[in-house]
Amino acid sequence: MACTCVVGLQWGDEAKGKIVDLLTQSHDYVVRYNGGANAGHTVVKNGKTYKLSLLPTGILCDHMKAVIANGVVVNPVKFFDEIKSLQEAGIPIGPHNLFLSNHAHLIFPYHIEEETLGEEGSGKAIGTTGRGIGPCYQDKVGRTSGIRVGELLEPKYLRERLRTIVPRKNIIFKALKPDAKQFDADALCDEYLVFAEKMKPYITNTTHLLHRVLAEGKNILFEAAQGSLLDVDHGTYPFVTSSNSSTTGIWSGSGVPARNLNRILGVVKAYTTRVGRGPFPTELDDGPQGIGERIRKTGNEYGTVTGRPRRCGWFDAVAVRHTAMLGGVDELTLMLLDVLSVVDELKICVAYEVDGRRTTEFPGDAFLLEQCKPVYETMPGWKTDLTGVRQMADLPAAARAYVARISELVGKPVSIVSVGPDRVQTIAVS
Ligand code: GDP
Ligand code: IMO
Ligand code: MG
Repeated sequence: MACTCVVGLQWGDEAKGKIVDLLTQSHDYVVRYNGGANAGHTVVKNGKTYKLSLLPTGILCDHMKAVIANGVVVNPVKFFDEIKSLQEAGIPIGPHNLFLSNHAHLIFPYHIEEETLGEEGSGKAIGTTGRGIGPCYQDKVGRTSGIRVGELLEPKYLRERLRTIVPRKNIIFKALKPDAKQFDADALCDEYLVFAEKMKPYITNTTHLLHRVLAEGKNILFEAAQGSLLDVDHGTYPFVTSSNSSTTGIWSGSGVPARNLNRILGVVKAYTTRVGRGPFPTELDDGPQGIGERIRKTGNEYGTVTGRPRRCGWFDAVAVRHTAMLGGVDELTLMLLDVLSVVDELKICVAYEVDGRRTTEFPGDAFLLEQCKPVYETMPGWKTDLTGVRQMADLPAAARAYVARISELVGKPVSIVSVGPDRVQTIAVS
């Protein structure tokens, strides 16, 4: 029995989708345990590109069954839009291969308005994806206003809940901004009851399901969303998402105990990117002719969900050593190495300097990370196209040295090197 997790070790978009796709052959179930439609995972195979937000990417593979577990926050509009677009692309999706937790929380349109008001009015915008993720998790933890998927199946109860919750939201929204959107509890209830009918066959207790599956000896693949540096507890707080996006979220977000995991792959880019605001010590903010822009253009570093340009910078070994340790990572998969072919000389951040003092400990607060200056080690570039390379021995010596140095600094072996978006553009490191 295998229980594997694919987790991002930076600020998201590390190419987790590609690794999940590569692992589907040896697994039976794929599970999303955190986040929602703020994620954007890409899989490129057989000349086709697929982008998934809420559904686990593993569902693209015929034999896989997919689970949206209790730790996910679900917008029914996105749920059905995504099912429809995949069905149109010829991927069979239905209650036979997709299971939605009755304990996952529901995103309502008022969560999206709440997020806009928060971002506009806080004076400290996070640069969120605008998908209502934060406010939905707030209601979950606050308890009085959270509504779970299972409640969709109890129309009378759902209406009562919304009739209590919505007027309170309206009062707060109006107080924050006189022309804020207002919502009608009954109209929302009617709208969601239509979703409920269609959603019913997908809804189940996924914790029970996963334990049954474990008992049958099936192999489960956990597909983390976001990156560990965006983890609400262990990331660069407050510039994080609202869930445990590191492996720490698996237990609470799926009901599968961490002790069942026997392989954890930490996905990293060969450099670093970040979307949204927050400290980023190795950022290359060096103008339109700079290296940052060159990496952005070559790596097509624009957000999958929002289209925003991703901030780009050098590989930060201090940050990744921290998240690899935190996540119990066994091996690294090093992605987008091909993109660095456009750079003459490479830098890796090996330590931070704070007040003239050197440290290799990653601070878990944004205000402390802001004070950290990166200490770099420089390595020669290779300046040759890597996209056709399929074996380590065929990589230029400088590229092999770069991979080896990252592995050494992070303290984990590199098992896969990726040199292009397609699943075939992959090097297995033996
Ligand atoms: P995820 O959110 O972690 O799944 O990553 P995204 O899909 O948001 O972003 C990763 C992007 O890099 C996608 O457009 C992938 O198709 C692409 N990609 C994956 N691996 C490679 C690679 O090795 N080289 C290049 N150039 N692109 C890659
Ligand atoms: P995948 O799964 C990169 C970022 C947002 C913002 C912060 C909070 O594709 O790696 P939120 O909407 O979650 O409240 O936004 O988190 N963010 C991501 N960045 N990849 C993601 O997902 C992200 N999901 C959220 O840009 O900075
Ligand atoms: Mg992404």
